[in-house]
Amino acid sequence: MNHALPELDPPERLLCGPGPTNVDPAVLEAMSRPMLGHLDPAFHEILLELADMLRRVYRMPDGLVLPLQSTGTAGMEAGIVNLLEPGDKVVVGQCGFFGRRIAEMARRHGVSVVPVEADWGLCVSNDALMAALAAHPDARMVAVVHAETSTGVEHPLAELGAALRDGDTLLMADCVTSLAGVPLEVGAWGIDFAYSCTQKCLAAPPGMSPLAVSERALERVRSRRTAVPFTFDLLALEQYWVERPVTYHHTAPILSIYALHEALRGVLVEGLETRWERHAEAAAHLQAEIESRGLGLLAGPDHRLAPLTAVRVPEGVDGKAVQGQLLREDGIEIGGGLGPDAPAMWRIGLMGQNASIETADRVLAALDAALATEAAPALAS
Ligand SMILES: Cc1ncc(COP(=O)(O)O)c(C=O)c1O
Repeated sequence: MNHALPELDPPERLLCGPGPTNVDPAVLEAMSRPMLGHLDPAFHEILLELADMLRRVYRMPDGLVLPLQSTGTAGMEAGIVNLLEPGDKVVVGQCGFFGRRIAEMARRHGVSVVPVEADWGLCVSNDALMAALAAHPDARMVAVVHAETSTGVEHPLAELGAALRDGDTLLMADCVTSLAGVPLEVGAWGIDFAYSCTQKCLAAPPGMSPLAVSERALERVRSRRTAVPFTFDLLALEQYWVERPVTYHHTAPILSIYALHEALRGVLVEGLETRWERHAEAAAHLQAEIESRGLGLLAGPDHRLAPLTAVRVPEGVDGKAVQGQLLREDGIEIGGGLGPDAPAMWRIGLMGQNASIETADRVLAALDAALATEAAPALAS
């Protein structure tokens, strides 16, 4: 044995930050099942099963549903580079870090951005988005973040889908923190491009980005003037994931696909509505307890998100020191503010298996203890 080579020995953590969340044990176990090749017909059955379960979790009866072999950021980029071309215009709702990231990505792709902004903790209004579209009727797409993880704000997406239904402007929604955690009906709400991740409410490891693409969005892709970057080519990905016989596009991440397959199965066994309710109940408990301690929530009561709660750090408290104490003393990870201009906050995620009152109480107890110590001198005195 070579003692100079350390064995992998990560500490146990309760992951209650903005994601990743703890992986469901059944999902971890699925990753140790027999390895297959990406061109094995047995594996192609698994791809179809996964795509079918994902369609049910997205509630998307038609169009194309498949996961991309990368994280949520790549899902965002896939939407932009497939649905928009250089010189196009997009209206982007920005009320936090991820709305701004959409705008930045679109600009890098040569797309002109019409930003519609709201302050940290507020929600971009659908009226403001529709007014921006009326002022820029040539915009090819409206993009919003359904669940803004940087602020804990949920966007009224169904209403926006209804407002856009009769036009030919596409709707892209960032569902990274909403899929399987809050009500989401991609088909019924008229969303043309939804993307998500695996490491939040699905409780699988990071590494895949589930997508749902409407028929009319696919039509837009088919009629493009310019080619889509190879990695994100939805029509080529469809030839591997859905069409038979398969056409090779890239070596699929087999074990990540096993993990997502098992995670989606778990969601459907639990029941999508039951899972949404579980996330809502855990968050309602956490948010009420936070407020009962005299702490403030960043998001207003009308648009508070369940899987992620942003708590204002009280005056005189060192927010980062509190986070550090939770990690050191209790093995609990919570998040802080994201980006240089974020107000001081803690971001507490109750996602996947961690969406429970018991987990919320563990975080609250640890937070109480930290606030009573030298990490928070102003409150302790
Ligand atoms: C709302 C939102 N969009 C996009 C992303 C980017 O996803 P990833 O970090 O998986 O690339 C995140 C990550 O936390 C997110 O919360």
